[in-house]
Amino acid sequence: MDRQKLIQTAIDALPNAYVPYSRFHVAAALLCRDGTVYTGINIENAAYTPTVCAERSAFFRAVNEGKREFEAIVICGGKDGILTDYCAPCGVCRQVMREFCDPGTFKVILAKSPEEYREFTLEELLPLGFGPENLL
Ligand code: THU
Repeated sequence: MDRQKLIQTAIDALPNAYVPYSRFHVAAALLCRDGTVYTGINIENAAYTPTVCAERSAFFRAVNEGKREFEAIVICGGKDGILTDYCAPCGVCRQVMREFCDPGTFKVILAKSPEEYREFTLEELLPLGFGPENLL
């Protein structure tokens, strides 16, 4: 799947973000190795702590469906859904990616539009991460 299409899939999911408290819409599109794509949005909560980020929403949807191998994730977000800056994943979401993805090859794509994006490996965003192999 090409970058532009994956980015557009994430952008299309932005209006679904449930963000009555921050008004900061975030959406993700997670590309599985088998070519399927799962979107996710952030879901806030009146008690704040139960809030789930868009990236984890996407991962948990995919893992629930039995997916375990992933190639890339697109993330976009901004106040009132306006994409003025790149939206980088929080530390907790980086750690969730680390559970399922090869840090050297999994791509994290931060997008402002289908034409304007920056691409990182998970290793670049989470150096010296702690992963499943550390427990073997
Ligand atoms: N948020 C995400 O969904 N992903 C990120 O990577 C950063 C933060 C959400 C959580 C909360 O709903 C809002 O953005 C403001 O922190």
